[in-house]
Amino acid sequence: MKGLILSGGKGTRLRPFTYTQAKQLIPVANKPVLVRAIETIREADITEIGIVVGDTHAEIEKALGNGNQWGVNITYIPQPSPDGLAHAVKISHDFLGDERFVMYLGDNVIQGGIGSLIRDFAESDWNSQIVLKEVENAQSYGVAKLRPDGSIEKLIEKPKVPPSNLALVGIYMFDPHIWEAVNAIKPSPRGEYEITDAIQWMIDAGYQVYPHVHKGWWVDTGKAPDMLEANSLVLEELKPNISPESVIENSQIDRRVTVERGARIINSVVRGPTIIGENTVIENSYVGPFTSIYHHVTIQNCEIERSIILENSAIRDLHRRLQDSLIGRDVTIQHSDEKPQALKMNLGDHSTVWIL
Ligand code: TTP
Repeated sequence: MKGLILSGGKGTRLRPFTYTQAKQLIPVANKPVLVRAIETIREADITEIGIVVGDTHAEIEKALGNGNQWGVNITYIPQPSPDGLAHAVKISHDFLGDERFVMYLGDNVIQGGIGSLIRDFAESDWNSQIVLKEVENAQSYGVAKLRPDGSIEKLIEKPKVPPSNLALVGIYMFDPHIWEAVNAIKPSPRGEYEITDAIQWMIDAGYQVYPHVHKGWWVDTGKAPDMLEANSLVLEELKPNISPESVIENSQIDRRVTVERGARIINSVVRGPTIIGENTVIENSYVGPFTSIYHHVTIQNCEIERSIILENSAIRDLHRRLQDSLIGRDVTIQHSDEKPQALKMNLGDHSTVWIL
């Protein structure tokens, strides 16, 4: 089987980050979400991976190269415009040929592997297998209605009265009959070729589409709060490690803390689960649980909890605790004693600030 990861799209819900960065490269627990997707597919013994890329292709190709580092072989598939998930599949036909394949949304993070379900599908005569997850607010998702034999009868986008609590997760497996489907469907009212329409087309044509209900957690990191949620869940499972090439002076470090190479923690308290990135400096500060601080960051005289801070940023002398925050690259946040005493901000488009 081959793997197909979708890493194009517009990323409008993650602005302003997506004005300058591919959302799939934003790290959770200091590892880009897209790298986690590659590792999940690799663990299922799939090494030929196609990555659909859009406007952010240069940055993605620079970060992943040919995939050697993760033991896979990557082929980049440019999507001229983000015309929908089924369109992304359609343009990948040359790469996928007539093999069965797994399609994985590049902004999704799931708990555990997908090896067993890929093996189930590879050995079955099903035409497609769709990963579902029990959710509480099924009205907000694409939802599956099952037949008494367990196969999928219908997929409904954001139903007012959901026929089940089983939502579509961003993992799908297909055999070559998907090509008939993606070529037959028309764009939806929002102008996209929808993967749910392609799957429904297969069901209506009499092909066998079966579900796999995923038991672990799953997060679609489409919005900033989802990023923080995924970060907390991954940090909880991270095996802690303090690099011998880090410096820890006069500080309390919880046992669930990872400190990467070159980091320096001075006169500070760090509670886990937390990760402190390479060459980052934490001084006279408290870093609380569920925080990921990426590389080359400076934190001085601050308290931070349940946040993600990206590379090369500096946060200094805050008089209040920073919490539940996603801070981008090269950002400066600092206290000022200058008169007049007022809030001063340089914020880009679509930024959000919460003030007490
Ligand atoms: P979405 O999160 O559904 O769409 P989006 O990335 O455009 O984000 P937003 O809704 O905030 O504007 O996409 C899921 C994944 O699929 C994501 O990794 C981007 C990718 N994708 C493509 O590769 N091509 C596409 O045409 C679309 C719509 C998404």
